[in-house]
Amino acid sequence: MDMDLFAAAHVVRPVVPSRFGTFPTSYRVISTSVCFHYQVKASQMEVAGSDSDGREFKNADEMWREQTGDDNKKTQWYREGVAYWEGVEASVDGVLGGYGRVNDADVKGSEAFLQALFSECFVDGGIDRHLVALDCGSGIGRITKNLLLRYFNEVDLLEPVSHFLDVARESLVYENHMASDTHKATNFFCTPLQEFTPAAGRYDVIWVQWCIGHLTDDDFVSFFKRAKVGLKPGGFFVLKENTARSGFILDKEDRSITRSDVFFRELFCRCGLHLYKSKDQRGFPKELFAVKMYALMPDMPKKISKTRSKTHANRPGIIK
Ligand SMILES: C[S@@+](CC[C@H](N)C(=O)[O-])C[C@H]1O[C@@H](n2cnc3c(N)ncnc32)[C@H](O)[C@@H]1O
Repeated sequence: MDMDLFAAAHVVRPVVPSRFGTFPTSYRVISTSVCFHYQVKASQMEVAGSDSDGREFKNADEMWREQTGDDNKKTQWYREGVAYWEGVEASVDGVLGGYGRVNDADVKGSEAFLQALFSECFVDGGIDRHLVALDCGSGIGRITKNLLLRYFNEVDLLEPVSHFLDVARESLVYENHMASDTHKATNFFCTPLQEFTPAAGRYDVIWVQWCIGHLTDDDFVSFFKRAKVGLKPGGFFVLKENTARSGFILDKEDRSITRSDVFFRELFCRCGLHLYKSKDQRGFPKELFAVKMYALMPDMPKKISKTRSKTHANRPGIIK
């Protein structure tokens, strides 16, 4: 194993620490396609990748063919992904792979990103709007509880693992009780992303964190294409994910892949999404994968006119 690369990658997802010792050997971008103005130029991205045992793949297609190349394999891929999480304790530490201590830094980083987006994209920072979010792959509702419910009037949760969703429902019902009636968790969908289609025009923000790695590239693209319909005009996606230094890393244990920033950008093009803004998460332990936040929009945002004073315009509607 190339330990320099391992150290330099300062990665590893918030999953089991035992995986630290199995970081793949090498990654190399062979070529990338470029996509302008939402148009997919090509999907012939040739990025080499590896699996968690250090085995190398020439490109993602080769890996996907092997892992999900026919209906049975694909069903098994998704079944084993969910089975992995079914064996995990329904707690913050559980959903963060034993790294519950990164919760505060994660929420802080997300909040700063979200606040910037609110003030740049919503008239008056969204203060007069009834705001609705969808928390995808929500786990036990950690993000909804610590962040989304403070900014959105309604939050829906989507999670395929029922014991996670049960815990989310329990803790958020209590939260609903404590908070005002105008900020609440509304719907709990026990469904995987690849099978979900949102109600048209329901969401201001669709938040996708630490779960998209479970989807194949094709399902990634079709999910975002379907989910666009679920956004209100002016709405956007936030994708927050681990990133590999280049190419991709297949995790055979939980049936997921970690993609590089280049790989993500290629997929955004295929989805017809505009990358409005991205930011690195700071303050995580060095041994973890680098984490990036992406704000994605179906269209370039129109410049909003700020009619109120600056103090108002920069403030989203937070429940105190
Ligand atoms: C690392 S946890 C993150 C949970 C939550 N997003 C958070 O940050 O607290 C990964 C989550 O993805 C969910 N997941 C696994 N496969 C999925 C799929 N196909 N669609 C949606 N979520 C999935 C798991 O059940 C688990 O809750």
